[in-house]
Amino acid sequence: MQLSDWQGAVGIKWADEWRRTDRSFTGLTERLLARARAEPISHALDIGCGAGELSLALARSHPLAKMLGVDIGEALIAAAKSRGSNLANARFEVADAAVWRSDEFTPDLLLSRHGVMFFPEPVAAFVNLRRCAASSARLIFSCFRSVEENPWALGLTNLLPVGASPPPQSMVPGPFAFADRDAVTAMLDAAGWTEIEFEAVDFAYIAGAGEDPVADAKSFFRTIGPAARAAADMNPSDRAEFTRRLDTFVSSHRDGDLVVMLAGAWIVSARAPTRD
Ligand SMILES: C[S@@+](CC[C@H](N)C(=O)[O-])C[C@H]1O[C@@H](n2cnc3c(N)ncnc32)[C@H](O)[C@@H]1O
Repeated sequence: MQLSDWQGAVGIKWADEWRRTDRSFTGLTERLLARARAEPISHALDIGCGAGELSLALARSHPLAKMLGVDIGEALIAAAKSRGSNLANARFEVADAAVWRSDEFTPDLLLSRHGVMFFPEPVAAFVNLRRCAASSARLIFSCFRSVEENPWALGLTNLLPVGASPPPQSMVPGPFAFADRDAVTAMLDAAGWTEIEFEAVDFAYIAGAGEDPVADAKSFFRTIGPAARAAADMNPSDRAEFTRRLDTFVSSHRDGDLVVMLAGAWIVSARAPTRD
């Protein structure tokens, strides 16, 4: 994936779909927020904040702390600003986090839910973020583990015609770029972060809900994510076959009024060096 995707059509879709993307991550969000709240927070930077859910949650629970969400996508920042318009301690900026700098805002917490796997040059980006951070600042972010540990993504990929979705490669920008723990450790270490730790979190990925959760999940997967991108490029007969298989796949994951699948993430944490 390229930054221009987030600045264009993909970013606009994520901005329109924040209710369903937030919902899909519910099980992970609570774990991330618990980790963020484990130590005092003065200034938190939400990296690749999207429509702002983490910033907004922390702004509500920490009214004396300041939250800044940065994202490369204008549509996403517009959505975040609209959602946060009643919160005096949360603000949002269009910025590339890889080169973001501020003289006024020195974060003691750098947080991200799945917003850090898209840097074309991740070491340089994490060097920049470390330089912007306060002494001993905490870095806490989530990212997907491998496709094999994410049955929702593996299942979707298997619905596509052979070759429609190339397998993700380690450290190549995209949702699965940070699946390889050793590669991420080496990257953060090279960028000067210390105390690098990984927690494996399995969570229920909610794809559909409401009166017709199967229809909801089908429309979600046709709008957002790897299958949506591949389906958009298919010829009509491949698309018809994909639609049929998507229906079977999604229906088989219905549980009451939800369509729910297993997902596997890392919560990665690290610390900026202590400055004298
Ligand atoms: C998978 S979405 C996650 C969004 C949000 N954190 C959430 O959990 O809903 C990835 C986000 O990272 C943003 N992003 C990607 N590269 C970025 C960069 N270099 N600087 C800032 N934001 C970036 C995208 O625009 C997108 O909003």
